[in-house]
Amino acid sequence: MLELIISDPKYIKPIKTDLEKHGLFAKPIYRDPTLPNKSVIRTTIHDSVDDANFQIISQYSSNFEIRDYYLNDNSTDVSKSPIINFTENFLSTENYKNLLTRNGLSITKLIEQLPIRYTIYPPLLLFNNSHQKSFLFDDWQLLFKQKIENVTNNTTVQDEYFQELLRILFPQLTHVAINKPIIESDVMRRPFNIQPLYGELISKDLQLLDNDQLWDHPTSHDFENTLWCHTIQNGIHQYWAPIFTMFSRGNIKEKKRILDSYPEIEGNDVVDLYSGIGYFTLSYLQRKARNVFCFELNPWSVEGLKRGAIRNKFPWVSTRQLQALNTQTCYIYNMNNEASIEIIRELFPTNKRQELKLRHINLGLLPSSKQGWKLAIELFNWQQGCRTTTLHIHENVSTAALQDGTFVEGTIDQLRSIDTNHEYTPVHVEKIKTFAPDVWHVCFDVNVTK
Ligand SMILES: C[S@@+](CC[C@H](N)C(=O)[O-])C[C@H]1O[C@@H](n2cnc3c(N)ncnc32)[C@H](O)[C@@H]1O
Repeated sequence: MLELIISDPKYIKPIKTDLEKHGLFAKPIYRDPTLPNKSVIRTTIHDSVDDANFQIISQYSSNFEIRDYYLNDNSTDVSKSPIINFTENFLSTENYKNLLTRNGLSITKLIEQLPIRYTIYPPLLLFNNSHQKSFLFDDWQLLFKQKIENVTNNTTVQDEYFQELLRILFPQLTHVAINKPIIESDVMRRPFNIQPLYGELISKDLQLLDNDQLWDHPTSHDFENTLWCHTIQNGIHQYWAPIFTMFSRGNIKEKKRILDSYPEIEGNDVVDLYSGIGYFTLSYLQRKARNVFCFELNPWSVEGLKRGAIRNKFPWVSTRQLQALNTQTCYIYNMNNEASIEIIRELFPTNKRQELKLRHINLGLLPSSKQGWKLAIELFNWQQGCRTTTLHIHENVSTAALQDGTFVEGTIDQLRSIDTNHEYTPVHVEKIKTFAPDVWHVCFDVNVTK
């Protein structure tokens, strides 16, 4: 669970009050001798990303740092992270003590640099990486490349450490890697910075292939020889290959909102212009959308979406031929969404426009989905089955632009400038998660009416 470390005492009271109001405060507020002049507030919030309760205090997020704490079974004392406990025990055996001494390494320093925050994406354990704590620091790297004494095969400390870590703490997992942030400029949001620590994320023979070929035109052999992660959120199975596709846990709240808020999805059609592995598509299908038309550039995400559709028992096709209209179908196109108009017109030519009931259009690209706004309006114009369509516009927005209304106003103005013939009604701005200090990932719902 999370503790908040606060430097400026004036924030203690309001944060405590908000936590108490929601039953998220865990007594007592205390001082940690290693953090002079700071106070620590303990919460019962599990995670700043997965736990929607974090939103309750997120307005103060620039006024605290967070860290995890762990409770002993029989006391409320703050105890060490299990990763630290394991590592101390692991490095304290005679063999390791000697090895550390020989290499001028100290347990204390290694523990100081030891990452303890991680995410579990079965079968993968994914460690965070920061400027303070990283397995990539020199001391850890030096330790990792040492060979184990008395072992005849070629085991390194790295292999033995992670093998034991998984065996003791995460017996259900098989792979370990480090997560570094995705590269903003990559439109496909590919996780170029994921670095394996234990186990292969992709089989060795594939790593030798021409890289572009593997990224852009993977074969079924490539799919089968790559690690696929699986998670269930809101009862929906999702799959992705972590080396080729990003996954963001933080969208769980938005997925839930789709499941809970829009009864009119049922029986109507949806276009997802940036469908990825189906974060939102699968929720629309779960909510009984009639047809969901998905457009996605990254073939690896498309494969993840297909796997997700199959596991969740949603029928899918990739053809450009309209299937029986009232059988729920997910149409999956590994294409730039610029092709969406052409595809939709092919499926619903002039004499069938009335049959397309496009009730929602999802635009889930960060930092901005502007590229898709014009397409969304064109799709809305073409369909004739719904008088109103809800656009779900995902954007990164500054707190200031949210507070002074310029984000909402500016977006509506820009939509109007694309097509002046419609009415644009702001319905709701959902703050999904903080993207950076004072920047929110929001979903802005706008109704477009003919
Ligand atoms: C933030 S991710 C969305 C994640 C997605 N909702 C999911 O379930 O994975 C944005 C996705 O949009 C895709 N994308 C970006 N530009 C695109 C375009 N012009 N046409 C189709 N897909 C696009 C990227 O490849 C990426 O998978």
